[in-house]
Amino acid sequence: MSKLTVELKKELIKKAFSAQKRAYTPYSGFQVGAALLTRDGKIYEGCNIENASYGATNCAERTAFFRAVYEGERDFLAIAIVGKPEKSEEYEYCAPCGICRQVMAEFGVPEEFQIILPRSLEDYKEFTLEELLPLSFTGDSMKSKTPQ
Ligand code: THU
Repeated sequence: MSKLTVELKKELIKKAFSAQKRAYTPYSGFQVGAALLTRDGKIYEGCNIENASYGATNCAERTAFFRAVYEGERDFLAIAIVGKPEKSEEYEYCAPCGICRQVMAEFGVPEEFQIILPRSLEDYKEFTLEELLPLSFTGDSMKSKTPQ
């Protein structure tokens, strides 16, 4: 079980920045990197992968999740996300899109799962998934409340 220490957050941030270098963005030029932490301390990286049919684009966060889930991971604690236009020098906080928040809700505990949005190693904002996706629709939402 990993505790989300400052050291671990910084490791995630560094890995999000290195993952960003793998971005495939011939259309938007907006490069995103993500680093996803499992409860037992493993880190999976992802980048955005664009497509000429724009809707087929995969965000960095989902690349990280899908890589991890393929490897058998199901339990996650945190994700760091960085993004900026290729030509820009400065980072702004890069919030995850709605589809990625929904994927986080599938695998993270909303009150616990931490979303770290860095501009640099020292300057980052943190939110829980509950804050960024309140009242989320999950598998539990489809369970019958009536005794069968
Ligand atoms: N993008 C991400 O990778 N993650 C997000 O949460 C927001 C958007 C990517 C998709 C596309 O390649 C580019 O940023 C511009 O939308």
